[in-house]
Amino acid sequence: MSRLVGIIGGTGLTEYPDLTIRKEESVLTDLGATSAPLIFGELQGVDVVFLARHGHPHKFPPNKVNYRANILALKEAGVSEIIAVNAVGGITDKMDSEVICIPDQIIDYTHGREDTFFDGVYKALEHIDYSHPYDHQIIQRILSAAEAAKESVVPRGVYGATQGPRLETVAEIARMERDGCDLVGMTGMPEAVLARELEIPYACISLVVNKAAGKSNDIITMDEIVAALNNGMSKVKKIISSYLIVD
Ligand code: HPA
Repeated sequence: MSRLVGIIGGTGLTEYPDLTIRKEESVLTDLGATSAPLIFGELQGVDVVFLARHGHPHKFPPNKVNYRANILALKEAGVSEIIAVNAVGGITDKMDSEVICIPDQIIDYTHGREDTFFDGVYKALEHIDYSHPYDHQIIQRILSAAEAAKESVVPRGVYGATQGPRLETVAEIARMERDGCDLVGMTGMPEAVLARELEIPYACISLVVNKAAGKSNDIITMDEIVAALNNGMSKVKKIISSYLIVD
């Protein structure tokens, strides 16, 4: 299979100006429309397809994104792998603002989302192994890419996916920490499991944009989040560029 790298951008990454764009395609799948047109182009000489998870402009809250349509459209476009970018809150000590983490595990606290293709309607019921939710090879490649780009990353972490769009209470974050979560975000699931169901190798680059509720002395403000997004997303893009060419 030829290489076509899918990049799903989240909050703070709704467009990708570095791409040499070849075509934009609005896609209506059997499961509905994607959040935004697929942008096909080239980055570092590699074919990529970019999708803005929340739409462009940003319009779908995390609980209203049609994750199934997004992943199905990328599958039908022929992606060989997906790099997903997520803005997250930091729970454990080392997860400070602007830290980049490559999570290796997930706990799913979301509810009411269309979270499987194997629903007995679109596809027959099937129970897949999901012990290791992210693709090991992609993770290794991201870690090599970060090293080559001289960007430091935390090489593992547990991503707790919450429903949103509100942020969490202090007690919810304390519970998540007891559960073992390092990060909290609203879009990690069901995106990751849907990619696995369609056998697309998938991994995630999480950018911490605030300390989670109760983990700093202040309340969380959008100004703080936007500042961290602006500073951190350029580092994430450097890692992605490096990922595309690293061995
Ligand atoms: N909680 C959940 N999702 C988030 C946060 C948070 O604190 N920050 C960015 N996305």
